[in-house]
Amino acid sequence: MADISVNPNISALVISLRSIGYSFENAISDIIDNSITANATEISINCNWDGINPYVEIIDNGIGMNYEELINAMVLGSKSKKEIRDRDDLGRFGLGLKTASFSQCKKLTVITKQNEKILKAIYDLEKVVKENDLTIDLTELKEFDTLEYQGTIVKWELIDTLEKKNKVDAQNYFNNLINDLEKHISLYFHRFLAGEKTKKIAINLNNIGCKAYNPFFVERSEKLPLEIIDDLNTSCKVQAYTLPHHQKVNNFEWELYAGKEGYLANQGFYLYRNNRLIVKGTWFKLRAKKEETKLSRIAIDIDNTCDEFWQIDVKKSSAEPPLTVRSKLKK
Ligand SMILES: Nc1ncnc2c1ncn2[C@@H]1O[C@H](COP(=O)(O)OP(=O)(O)OP(=O)(O)O)[C@@H](O)[C@H]1O
Ligand SMILES: [Mg+2]
Repeated sequence: MADISVNPNISALVISLRSIGYSFENAISDIIDNSITANATEISINCNWDGINPYVEIIDNGIGMNYEELINAMVLGSKSKKEIRDRDDLGRFGLGLKTASFSQCKKLTVITKQNEKILKAIYDLEKVVKENDLTIDLTELKEFDTLEYQGTIVKWELIDTLEKKNKVDAQNYFNNLINDLEKHISLYFHRFLAGEKTKKIAINLNNIGCKAYNPFFVERSEKLPLEIIDDLNTSCKVQAYTLPHHQKVNNFEWELYAGKEGYLANQGFYLYRNNRLIVKGTWFKLRAKKEETKLSRIAIDIDNTCDEFWQIDVKKSSAEPPLTVRSKLKK
């Protein structure tokens, strides 16, 4: 018997991590989660495509990071999945900043300001792969215009999803990304944008404020009594709505609440974790999507103590109800 070290091959690991399956909007959402957890009240996302060097930056006015916190933030697995998190923490795995960024770009820069100290850390994946070593370049900056007070900038460069395309295709692709991102943020962060059940946060995308899109059309829908499902490990609130029939609303409202995929596809459960939408329009394989239930939408609220039982994934884009909850949801 011998203990044989089987440490990961860093280059191969980092390249594979890039394919974990994030969409552009899920990746941005993971970065927004971090800003919200850092108590930001304003988040600005600037997506810039000049045909040569596209970049994306997410700027927040949150609490920022000190030297140790910044180094720790750049570690893959900076916190254990098992660690007890603050009640409002949107994180779980200690991975999102890195995995979301790597899925989209080869250069990640984090600039952060706390107590007048400005620090900058760069992950250059081309260097990491070449040297087969996970290192960051960390420097202290004397000043940095964008961070007037306190907060953090996450910047993505060498966005190779765009580099592969020709100039016209890339421009169209980029414009579509921004349109889809705006819709995604308006829906997945609608409670934060409206200050509904939680703190209010402004999110600007290329200098335009995102507006909350509440998928339940609460002003006009029929609201059923709130139900609470409690079991040993998890507790959740279930709020069902029946959206108004076509004849009871004007065309604009009908189309607006249909959403891009339409009423049939968008029926079902909407799972919120700490007020952030995780999964939308699914019956969790409890039943099929049917024409007669196309106006039914049901909000489920869980908090971050339930992550394990709901099988929340690293990308915060999939979940499964625990067995005991499934049977109650089916009813
Ligand atoms: N914008 C930010 N402001 C302040 N601290 C941040 C910011 N972004 C990241 N951090 C710090 O970096 C850590 C690592 O972030 P990362 O997204 O990788 O993991 P996480 O949020 O803890 O968990 P998850 O993998 O579920 O997102 C965070 O726990 C937080 O301490
Ligand atoms: Mg995170």
